[in-house]
Amino acid sequence: MTTTLFVKANNRQGSVTGKLYDAFLESYRASHPNDSVTELDLYKETLPYLGDVMISGNFKSSQGMELTLEEKAVHDIVTKHLEQFIATDKLVIAFPLWNLTVPAVLHSYLDYMHHPRKTFKYTAEGLVGLLPDKKVALLNARGGVYAEGDSSEMAVSFVKNHLNVFGITDITTIVIEGHNQFPDQSEAIIEEGFRKASQAAKTF
Ligand SMILES: Cc1cc2nc3c(=O)[nH]c(=O)nc-3n(C[C@H](O)[C@H](O)[C@H](O)COP(=O)(O)O)c2cc1C
Repeated sequence: MTTTLFVKANNRQGSVTGKLYDAFLESYRASHPNDSVTELDLYKETLPYLGDVMISGNFKSSQGMELTLEEKAVHDIVTKHLEQFIATDKLVIAFPLWNLTVPAVLHSYLDYMHHPRKTFKYTAEGLVGLLPDKKVALLNARGGVYAEGDSSEMAVSFVKNHLNVFGITDITTIVIEGHNQFPDQSEAIIEEGFRKASQAAKTF
């Protein structure tokens, strides 16, 4: 059975991201009735920051060393999310552009996925991702319009760069943009984004 993990990184009431997520999810459920769908709302999770405790816990675990209680508690959270991420066939991530980047919860979540020998490996030629078969959809909303490759946009580009490290290149991206920049067209821009998300979900 195909497994699909839906990750939401926005808890703002009535957010465009949240509605984009709902549009994709509803269409996906209807068109893939036999798939196993799991939802992960990052704002409802405890997501400790990457730092000394997490780094030392990850290192000790990889070396078969004993972890302190604090390290184990943090390491268990990382492992839970990492294993779920590795196991899923398909992944959908919904996130806004906030202050030029992603919400901190998504940054932390992606930090958990960086594990040598699990999601990537080092070779003489450089990093090689270990999850090339995973299929991903990115659902993003941003109030302004950003040109392709604009270095000040660090949300979609940020998430894609992380996924590329893991060897993930099959990435469908739906972006709703410009609804704050062009208020007179806001409704039409947003509706068109929902339509695209519903359509893309059918063949995802
Ligand atoms: C705290 C905050 C920061 C934002 N920063 C940006 C930004 O840097 N660039 C931009 O184009 N829009 C920005 N916006 C507008 C959002 O991208 C826009 O509201 C979009 O719909 C995504 O947010 P939402 O899903 O919460 O609605 C920001 C909005 C908020 C609330």
